[in-house]
Amino acid sequence: MANSAGAARRVLSAFLAASAALWLDLSAAQAASDAERGEDLYLRYCRGCHGADGRGGAHTFMPHVDRLTEKGYIDLLPDEYLYQVITEGGAFVGKSSYMPAWKSTLSDQDVNDIIAHIRRLRLH
Ligand code: HEC
Repeated sequence: MANSAGAARRVLSAFLAASAALWLDLSAAQAASDAERGEDLYLRYCRGCHGADGRGGAHTFMPHVDRLTEKGYIDLLPDEYLYQVITEGGAFVGKSSYMPAWKSTLSDQDVNDIIAHIRRLRLH
Protein backbone atom coordinates (compact mmCIF):
# COMPACT_ATOMS: atom_id res chain seq x y z
CA MET A 1 0.00 0.00 0.00
CA ALA A 2 2.78 2.42 0.93
CA ASN A 3 4.34 1.43 -2.37
CA SER A 4 1.25 2.40 -4.32
CA ALA A 5 1.12 5.81 -2.70
CA GLY A 6 4.82 6.22 -3.42
CA ALA A 7 4.22 5.24 -7.03
CA ALA A 8 1.39 7.75 -7.27
CA ARG A 9 3.68 10.47 -5.93
CA ARG A 10 6.42 9.56 -8.40
CA VAL A 11 3.99 9.61 -11.30
CA LEU A 12 2.66 12.92 -10.12
CA SER A 13 5.99 14.64 -9.80
CA ALA A 14 7.06 13.44 -13.24
CA PHE A 15 3.77 14.68 -14.58
CA LEU A 16 4.01 18.06 -12.87
CA ALA A 17 7.50 18.58 -14.18
CA ALA A 18 6.54 17.60 -17.71
CA SER A 19 3.42 19.62 -18.10
CA ALA A 20 3.42 22.68 -15.89
CA ALA A 21 2.75 24.85 -18.92
CA LEU A 22 -0.39 22.95 -19.86
CA TRP A 23 -2.27 23.49 -16.60
CA LEU A 24 -3.82 26.71 -17.87
CA ASP A 25 -5.32 25.03 -20.93
CA LEU A 26 -6.71 22.22 -18.85
CA SER A 27 -8.88 24.33 -16.60
CA ALA A 28 -10.72 25.52 -19.70
CA ALA A 29 -11.38 21.89 -20.62
CA GLN A 30 -13.14 21.02 -17.36
CA ALA A 31 -16.71 21.16 -18.60
CA ALA A 32 -19.56 19.40 -16.83
CA SER A 33 -19.10 15.69 -17.37
CA ASP A 34 -21.48 12.82 -17.90
CA ALA A 35 -20.35 9.48 -16.48
CA GLU A 36 -23.07 7.51 -18.32
CA ARG A 37 -21.81 8.75 -21.63
CA GLY A 38 -18.26 8.14 -20.41
CA GLU A 39 -19.06 4.52 -19.71
CA ASP A 40 -20.10 3.89 -23.32
CA LEU A 41 -16.91 5.51 -24.58
CA TYR A 42 -14.77 3.65 -22.06
CA LEU A 43 -16.26 0.31 -23.07
CA ARG A 44 -15.65 1.09 -26.72
CA TYR A 45 -12.10 2.44 -26.55
CA CYS A 46 -10.49 1.37 -23.28
CA ARG A 47 -11.96 -1.98 -22.28
CA GLY A 48 -9.67 -4.00 -24.56
CA CYS A 49 -6.63 -3.12 -22.46
CA HIS A 50 -7.98 -1.89 -19.12
CA GLY A 51 -10.90 -4.32 -18.72
CA ALA A 52 -14.58 -3.41 -18.38
CA ASP A 53 -14.12 -2.95 -14.62
CA GLY A 54 -10.78 -1.13 -14.90
CA ARG A 55 -8.84 -3.96 -13.32
CA GLY A 56 -6.49 -4.42 -16.26
CA GLY A 57 -5.90 -7.37 -18.53
CA ALA A 58 -5.00 -10.92 -17.61
CA HIS A 59 -1.50 -11.35 -16.18
CA THR A 60 -0.48 -12.99 -19.41
CA PHE A 61 -1.67 -10.00 -21.38
CA MET A 62 1.12 -7.95 -22.92
CA PRO A 63 1.73 -5.10 -22.52
CA HIS A 64 0.99 -5.37 -18.83
CA VAL A 65 -1.65 -2.83 -17.89
CA ASP A 66 -1.98 -1.73 -14.29
CA ARG A 67 -5.32 -1.37 -12.62
CA LEU A 68 -7.19 1.89 -13.00
CA THR A 69 -8.96 1.01 -9.76
CA GLU A 70 -6.14 0.62 -7.26
CA LYS A 71 -7.09 2.13 -3.92
CA GLY A 72 -4.45 4.49 -2.57
CA TYR A 73 -3.17 5.11 -6.10
CA ILE A 74 -5.68 6.18 -8.71
CA ASP A 75 -7.73 8.07 -6.13
CA LEU A 76 -4.67 10.20 -5.34
CA LEU A 77 -4.17 11.21 -8.96
CA PRO A 78 -5.92 14.43 -9.99
CA ASP A 79 -8.32 14.61 -12.94
CA GLU A 80 -5.78 16.83 -14.70
CA TYR A 81 -3.27 13.98 -14.71
CA LEU A 82 -5.81 11.50 -16.07
CA TYR A 83 -6.79 14.01 -18.73
CA GLN A 84 -3.17 14.40 -19.72
CA VAL A 85 -2.32 10.71 -19.92
CA ILE A 86 -5.50 9.98 -21.89
CA THR A 87 -5.08 12.79 -24.40
CA GLU A 88 -1.28 12.69 -24.77
CA GLY A 89 -0.62 9.00 -24.18
CA GLY A 90 1.45 7.00 -21.70
CA ALA A 91 4.88 8.08 -22.90
CA PHE A 92 4.04 11.73 -22.26
CA VAL A 93 3.88 11.07 -18.51
CA GLY A 94 6.77 8.60 -18.48
CA LYS A 95 4.56 5.50 -18.68
CA SER A 96 4.24 2.82 -21.33
CA SER A 97 3.90 4.06 -24.90
CA TYR A 98 1.44 1.21 -25.44
CA MET A 99 -1.05 3.58 -23.87
CA PRO A 100 -2.20 5.48 -26.97
CA ALA A 101 -2.76 9.24 -27.19
CA TRP A 102 -6.46 9.78 -27.70
CA LYS A 103 -6.60 13.47 -28.51
CA SER A 104 -7.27 12.93 -32.20
CA THR A 105 -10.03 10.40 -31.46
CA LEU A 106 -11.78 11.84 -28.41
CA SER A 107 -13.03 15.37 -27.75
CA ASP A 108 -12.43 17.21 -24.45
CA GLN A 109 -15.97 16.36 -23.49
CA ASP A 110 -15.41 12.67 -24.28
CA VAL A 111 -12.30 12.57 -22.11
CA ASN A 112 -13.97 14.37 -19.21
CA ASP A 113 -16.92 11.98 -19.42
CA ILE A 114 -14.56 8.98 -19.40
CA ILE A 115 -12.76 10.39 -16.35
CA ALA A 116 -16.11 10.79 -14.60
CA HIS A 117 -16.79 7.13 -15.36
CA ILE A 118 -13.33 6.02 -14.13
CA ARG A 119 -14.06 7.87 -10.87
CA ARG A 120 -17.15 5.70 -10.40
CA LEU A 121 -15.35 2.37 -10.80
CA ARG A 122 -15.08 0.36 -7.60
CA LEU A 123 -11.60 0.57 -6.05
CA HIS A 124 -9.75 -2.51 -4.87
C1 HEC B 1 -3.56 -0.71 -26.38
C2 HEC B 1 -3.87 -0.83 -24.98
C3 HEC B 1 -4.51 0.36 -24.27
C4 HEC B 1 -5.69 1.01 -24.60
C5 HEC B 1 -6.64 0.73 -25.76
C6 HEC B 1 -5.88 2.02 -23.57
N1 HEC B 1 -4.86 1.99 -22.67
FE1 HEC B 1 -4.61 3.18 -21.03
N2 HEC B 1 -2.84 2.33 -20.65
C7 HEC B 1 -2.28 1.29 -21.36
C8 HEC B 1 -0.96 1.00 -20.82
C9 HEC B 1 0.00 -0.08 -21.31
C10 HEC B 1 -0.76 1.93 -19.77
C11 HEC B 1 0.48 2.09 -18.90
C12 HEC B 1 0.39 1.29 -17.65
C13 HEC B 1 1.60 1.50 -16.81
O1 HEC B 1 2.66 1.91 -17.31
O2 HEC B 1 1.47 1.29 -15.60
C14 HEC B 1 -1.96 2.74 -19.68
C15 HEC B 1 -2.15 3.74 -18.76
C16 HEC B 1 -3.31 4.45 -18.60
C17 HEC B 1 -3.56 5.41 -17.56
C18 HEC B 1 -2.55 5.84 -16.50
C19 HEC B 1 -2.58 4.90 -15.34
C20 HEC B 1 -1.47 5.21 -14.38
O3 HEC B 1 -1.03 4.27 -13.73
O4 HEC B 1 -1.02 6.33 -14.26
C21 HEC B 1 -4.83 5.86 -17.72
C22 HEC B 1 -5.56 6.89 -16.86
C23 HEC B 1 -5.37 5.20 -18.87
N3 HEC B 1 -4.43 4.34 -19.38
C24 HEC B 1 -6.64 5.40 -19.37
C25 HEC B 1 -7.10 4.88 -20.58
C26 HEC B 1 -8.35 5.24 -21.19
C27 HEC B 1 -9.36 6.19 -20.59
C28 HEC B 1 -8.43 4.56 -22.37
C29 HEC B 1 -9.52 4.63 -23.42
C30 HEC B 1 -9.78 5.95 -23.98
C31 HEC B 1 -7.23 3.76 -22.49
N4 HEC B 1 -6.45 3.98 -21.38
C32 HEC B 1 -6.97 2.88 -23.52
C33 HEC B 1 -2.84 0.62 -22.43
C34 HEC B 1 -4.01 0.99 -23.06
